[in-house]
Amino acid sequence: MPRVFVTRELPGDLFAALRADVDFELEIWPGDFPPPQDDLLERVRGVDGIVCLITDRIDEAVLEAAGPQLRVVSQMAVGVDNVDVAACTARGIAVGNTPGVLTETTADLVWALILATARRVVESAAFVERGDWRTWGPLLMAGVDVHDRTLGIVGFGAIGQAVARRAQGFGMRTLYWNRTPRPERAAELGAQLRRLDQLLAESDFVSLNVALNEETRHLIDAEALAKMLPHAILINTARGPIVEESALIEALRAGTIGGAGLDVTEVEPVDPASPLLRMDNVIVLPHIGSASLATRAKMADIAVANLRAALADQPLPHRVN
Ligand code: NAP
Ligand code: GLV
Repeated sequence: MPRVFVTRELPGDLFAALRADVDFELEIWPGDFPPPQDDLLERVRGVDGIVCLITDRIDEAVLEAAGPQLRVVSQMAVGVDNVDVAACTARGIAVGNTPGVLTETTADLVWALILATARRVVESAAFVERGDWRTWGPLLMAGVDVHDRTLGIVGFGAIGQAVARRAQGFGMRTLYWNRTPRPERAAELGAQLRRLDQLLAESDFVSLNVALNEETRHLIDAEALAKMLPHAILINTARGPIVEESALIEALRAGTIGGAGLDVTEVEPVDPASPLLRMDNVIVLPHIGSASLATRAKMADIAVANLRAALADQPLPHRVN
């Protein structure tokens, strides 16, 4: 009987069915926090499958602790930067992820951040809650427009393209930079290809939508930030380490850029003492890009489907390696 370790309780019908399946020996890490690394090393010993989240570091030590019978690491996320995919591949372990179902939900959150930063939504709500709203004023909480302006999308994958589609409704000029040019999709979405430095220099809003890996780590460093327009707003829903956070803080302090909307930070959770949390022109969210109830259930369903397929020697619906 296959043994499986799941690093957190998951939503969705397929997970409920897996839980009830007498042909699986399932251990689920209880509570709302990820297993500490020592517990993870202990719990994976002898398992055939691991179902994990972005909060779990699945590295060589975990694979070694699991043992040679481990066949699948099934991650409930599209990004797999917390998994040593190369080490899994070298050991013949399949890695699954959950692309597609979260694309529109995450693109919606990009727009929530664009609109909230541009129109000072969080700052305005806090102003009202503090009891500071005394009258209407000609410049009270005046922000910047979103419609008719220029959006630069860094990473024209599934989410980047979904962001571009939304920009059409706002009458925006859309620029994109992607490792692989996508002329057909770009033509459909009215997006123009730019070099990264050109995109940064021309965009009123810059949305980061690349995967995190060694090539994209600190893609947005001090030099890149210096190329942005002084009123430009940086939106990051991809991964925190794509931005050099100390350089971002400096750029915001110096007024090199106009603001930031961050669903992800270099270290998660963000340090409550981070200067980012004290800046009115910055919004930080707790990595909720795909967090709608429906989407999270679909992601869990795919993670379970990937697990079951691998353990049945079938092709995974979504395999990374
Ligand atoms: P995707 O369709 O696979 O797109 C990945 C993008 O990253 C593509 O543009 C790809 O370029 C680019 N990329 C990958 N490796 C690169 C490299 N070495 N150099 C330059 N570009 C590279 O994935 P997606 O569904 O759009 O998701 C994108 C990322 O968003 C995920 O990896 C994840 O980190 C993040 N995400 C975050 C949330 C959240 O909750 N905040 C939710 C979902 C996803 P090519 O087209 O050239 O391959
Ligand atoms: C979430 O961050 C994901 O990569 O799915």
